[in-house]
Amino acid sequence: MDMGVAAARVRRAAGGPSEAEVRADFPILSRELGGRPLAYLDNAATSQKPRQVLEAMRRFYERSNANVHRAIHALGEEATAAYEEARGKLRRFIGAASDGEIVFTRGTTESINLVASSWGGERLGPGDVVLLTEMEHHSDIVPWQLLRARRGFRLAAARVEDDGTLDLDSIRRNWDPGTKLVAVAHASNVLGTVNDVKALAALAHERGALILVDAAQSVPHMRIDVRDLDCDFLALSGHKAYGPMGIGALYGKEALLEAMPPWMGGGDMIRSVSFEESAWNDLPWKFEAGTPNVGGAVGLGAALDYADSLGLDWIAERELALSAYALARLGAMEGLALYGTAPDRCPVFSFNLGAVHAHDVAQYLDREGIAVRAGHHCAQPLMRRLGIPAAARASLAFYNTEEEIDRLALALEGASRFYA
Ligand code: ALA
Repeated sequence: MDMGVAAARVRRAAGGPSEAEVRADFPILSRELGGRPLAYLDNAATSQKPRQVLEAMRRFYERSNANVHRAIHALGEEATAAYEEARGKLRRFIGAASDGEIVFTRGTTESINLVASSWGGERLGPGDVVLLTEMEHHSDIVPWQLLRARRGFRLAAARVEDDGTLDLDSIRRNWDPGTKLVAVAHASNVLGTVNDVKALAALAHERGALILVDAAQSVPHMRIDVRDLDCDFLALSGHKAYGPMGIGALYGKEALLEAMPPWMGGGDMIRSVSFEESAWNDLPWKFEAGTPNVGGAVGLGAALDYADSLGLDWIAERELALSAYALARLGAMEGLALYGTAPDRCPVFSFNLGAVHAHDVAQYLDREGIAVRAGHHCAQPLMRRLGIPAAARASLAFYNTEEEIDRLALALEGASRFYA
């Protein structure tokens, strides 16, 4: 795309709040590093948090902090109400049918481990297959390997095509009748590819399998409706979606969660306990052993309110425009290899600059005040598929700007000359 056209689109997307207004919500964005303004382009690793989230958490700890589901006193009731209100916000945000389908966890990784241990620990065995893809994050590979060592099923990985997409026809053709679960990223943290998980869910269900969607990279960028996708499980993290670290959730269809045994044992997940036997609490608390991250849930609720106040459509439109600008800018650079050219994508751009190691590129950019991630991105099988040891990655959020993308491109030209 012509750069002038792309830039015009970024400006037009500002039909809602102005760029300056949105950036003012994020205190960290006004930091300077070594005399240069911070350009935070590492949003796929963790997003920044708006003032509204920081204030909600501060309010909770200053006024209502107490343990939940236990105390009769006023603060205990306030804390419980705040915690359950956050669950309701998340339920509405992703379109789940009931609060019982929303289990708070530490994040995507814990959510996938929960499904592997609880559902997989009972349902998977010799002859069964869990179908992954070559673009999975380690958090959607290793939990299955740990379980495989105990239960003896097989792991398969659908091929990633050269443009960074999955080929549904090929998945259909190569379908193993033993497949019990498809576990797939909604959006790749390396390629940016947004997978058609609705079509994959339909395929899995047609063949009698379930589907788990790793939505860590998609939830911050697009409207998700679990009932429209018809996914059986969906895992997400709060910290990539403008919320705090250490809070996330597992969505699961109620009938599935009902039938699954608890994963971790402890307080709050029980109905009764004796030395002979114990009985389990109702959903979702059956899966929430121990004191939960109440402050984190409150912060996540505030983050969802914040995203709703901007509008998911506005976020998506602005990020699409920023992406087009970044693609035009980076695509025009000589010697820069970009990975993943899927038409449907998140604002994530992984690249290498000639033979310069990705870590050197990231270090050079850091000196210019530009934060990107470099390395294998917790996706070593994908690095192998791409035939590279590592890549640098710029990942955007709606609060990034054209100027930051320009600075990235200029700094990359500088790095290219510096390492020539
Ligand atoms: N999964 C996160 C990333 O891609 C940490 O950076």
